[in-house]
Amino acid sequence: MSLADLDSWRSLPIKQQPQWPDAAAVADASQRLASFPPLVFAGEVDQLREKLGRAAAGEAFLLQGGDCAETFAGANADNIRNRIKTILQMAVVLTYGASMPVIKMGRMAGQFAKPRSSDTETRGDVTLPAYRGDIVNGFDFTEKSRVADPQRLLQGYHMAASTLNLIRAFTQGGFADLREVHSWNKGFASNPANARYEGLAAEIDRAIKFMEAAGADFEELKRVDFYTGHEGLLMDYEAPMTRIDSRTQTPYNTSAHFLWIGERTRELDGAHVDYFSKIRNPIGVKLGPTTDIDTMLRLIDKLDPNREPGRLTFITRMGAGKIRDALPPLLEAIKSADATPLWVTDPMHGNGITTPTGYKTRRFEDVVDEVVGFFESHRAAGTHPGGIHVELTGDDVTECLGGSEMIDEATLATRYESLCDPRLNHMQSLELAFLVAEQLENR
Ligand code: PEP
Ligand code: CO
Repeated sequence: MSLADLDSWRSLPIKQQPQWPDAAAVADASQRLASFPPLVFAGEVDQLREKLGRAAAGEAFLLQGGDCAETFAGANADNIRNRIKTILQMAVVLTYGASMPVIKMGRMAGQFAKPRSSDTETRGDVTLPAYRGDIVNGFDFTEKSRVADPQRLLQGYHMAASTLNLIRAFTQGGFADLREVHSWNKGFASNPANARYEGLAAEIDRAIKFMEAAGADFEELKRVDFYTGHEGLLMDYEAPMTRIDSRTQTPYNTSAHFLWIGERTRELDGAHVDYFSKIRNPIGVKLGPTTDIDTMLRLIDKLDPNREPGRLTFITRMGAGKIRDALPPLLEAIKSADATPLWVTDPMHGNGITTPTGYKTRRFEDVVDEVVGFFESHRAAGTHPGGIHVELTGDDVTECLGGSEMIDEATLATRYESLCDPRLNHMQSLELAFLVAEQLENR
């Protein structure tokens, strides 16, 4: 396949793209992006697809986590390190609980573009273009900042590159060595989930020391494979990052290992599904509560015609109140469809609420309830619950209600930092990991 064959999406209906005021400047930025080095390599992408295939078969579990919207200002060392530490801690809890490999993936190094429910935002009597993420325009509510600026495409690439560089340094350079399992907990406020984690870390420590004393070799524990993924939304970024791999002569999106199509852009005859059908990366599709069986089956035929293990992940985001009705029919239909997608739960996006004071939030208990509903549905159908996709940060923000810190509506204002959806904080993330581990033990 040539790069020109990849361009068929351009003639199809497309949603959620910005109105760039200067078409020539976008074309110029795209051309420059196309000349920049790839951020990931085809071999890593293939390796991830194989691992996801194992998760689809019930032999591994995917943990995907990170900001709803990464920001350029947030791409600093502390922030990235805390998110990585949180994901590593969650992975330890899950690996230990489930006794199976956990595939670690950040919603990181490219999660910059956001779909919006409205093209504009009105405050008082002023209406401006909606904020679409730092790779498109600025969050500040001024005319100047809300203009879609193609220079941001280039800045997004550089932010992704430096974030990925730090991820690689941390996960390959000794920081993620399992013998450091205690140190990942340092610096976080002490709380019940942290105390529980300390107990588990002590057990792991003891097991490692025993194995070392017995002469076992631990190269495997020194490094962690950590993959990146983001919503493949903004085509003026994704298209120029797509390259033909010299080894296989097939196209890979080199901006991330994994990309997914959001709930709002997954029309069967739309641009995004067409583009995704042509790249070799493992891909995801979000499925909301209105997904019917026919749509699901046609998505499989378009996106995974060869029924390749690990190729296609369905990320369900039904809402706690709906998952027990909406998911089981899809799982039943899959069983006679000769397809084995990886099933992942996103217990965040179906559980949004707005407080009377105007904060977008989610209740931790709803998040947990959706996760439990996900496991229940798979247990009943005999299919594999293969992973979890969450919006989280390593910082002690107050964006989601509840958890053992019992964050209430009045507390939300104290540290609400997300520019988009509310994220689990460090402690809520660890708590959730322990709950998922229990579900995995009883699957
Ligand atoms: C998201 O993952 O941030 C998102 C917008 O999700 P969805 O497409 O499921 O609404
Ligand atoms: Co979100």
